[in-house]
Amino acid sequence: MPLLHIDNLHLAMRSYEGEAHVLNGVDLQVDRGQIWGLAGETGCGKSVTGLSVSRLVNTPPARYMQGRILFDGQDVLRMDEAAMRRLRGRAISMIFQDPSTNLNPVLRVGEQIADVALEIGRHAPEILGLGAQASGAERRRAAERLGIEMLERVGIPDAARRARDYPHQFSGGMRQRVLIAMALVGQPRLLIADEPTTALDVTLQAQILRLLSELVRRSDTAVLMITHNLGVVAQICSHVAVMYAGHVVESGRTREVLQSPRHPYTRALLAALPRPGLQRGQLANLPGRVPDLIRPPPGCRFAPRCAQAGPACTVATPASVAVSDSHRVACVHADVTRGVPA
Ligand SMILES: Nc1ncnc2c1ncn2[C@@H]1O[C@H](COP(=O)(O)OP(=O)(O)OP(=O)(O)O)[C@@H](O)[C@H]1O
Ligand SMILES: [Mg+2]
Repeated sequence: MPLLHIDNLHLAMRSYEGEAHVLNGVDLQVDRGQIWGLAGETGCGKSVTGLSVSRLVNTPPARYMQGRILFDGQDVLRMDEAAMRRLRGRAISMIFQDPSTNLNPVLRVGEQIADVALEIGRHAPEILGLGAQASGAERRRAAERLGIEMLERVGIPDAARRARDYPHQFSGGMRQRVLIAMALVGQPRLLIADEPTTALDVTLQAQILRLLSELVRRSDTAVLMITHNLGVVAQICSHVAVMYAGHVVESGRTREVLQSPRHPYTRALLAALPRPGLQRGQLANLPGRVPDLIRPPPGCRFAPRCAQAGPACTVATPASVAVSDSHRVACVHADVTRGVPA
């Protein structure tokens, strides 16, 4: 059983113009120890997918129409709120794309990590290294120690002193390290990181990614790394899922997908790469535009932009077929039997 199984997830989002069919049958399976990249152009539904796993999408305006999100076999969309709260931050933790939701500017950095540790420690006292009988003061001290230890682990020099600083006293790269520390303090089984390095320069980005992959490898945490950047995917992801307009069009081991992409969209994305360190927003250099999700084109949503599109493409959303044991593609032109795309 995979740790995370997103199974045919459909989500609609209400807006003034009508209801947008934002997720159109997302399929994804993440196993322990894997680092998945979730890639695709802006608006394709990466964040909504990631937020859905922690059930942090507001309903309304969103509405789940079909599908399941199984975490360790349990459907998070059907869990009660108390069970969900126990899961969030503990078994499933997130680094959010929106920086304003990440660090509180008026609280000391160490205190913020300690608060997360304390909250998680209410249900899981072992992360504080204490028994269930420990006093409030003991728990607070243990949480503060753990906060400092986490800062050390993510490479903040002089951690005990820096823990007393406020976020604005940290550089962007250091703040990102703090967020990683905070996300890993509860020893999560799944980390969802939404564009965690997008705001950083390329050198710093590489450093943070190395750190992140080292930390998660050591702890066997699975990662869903949401990113525009195929360079990031190539750098640290063991697997990749390419999304287009709410659908995973191609997925598999990173090397296989990036070296022999089958879906015309994946190929176009790779062809549009100006250089290895692709920056945010640059995937949109493809000709054509992402489709209107309120009135999506029939069949394959990529067909209107696809040079290979034919009549078969507008009939139905193409089913995802296996090209190898890990590699899947959802395109009627991917001729699986001959091993080469038509
Ligand atoms: N709260 C919301 N209300 C209405 N529409 C929303 C909301 N959140 C997301 N959407 C819509 O859902 C679609 C998918 O959004 P999402 O944020 O998941 O895209 P994304 O792939 O993460 O894009 P980006 O790369 O820009 O972060 C978009 O069309 C967006 O406008
Ligand atoms: Mg996003």
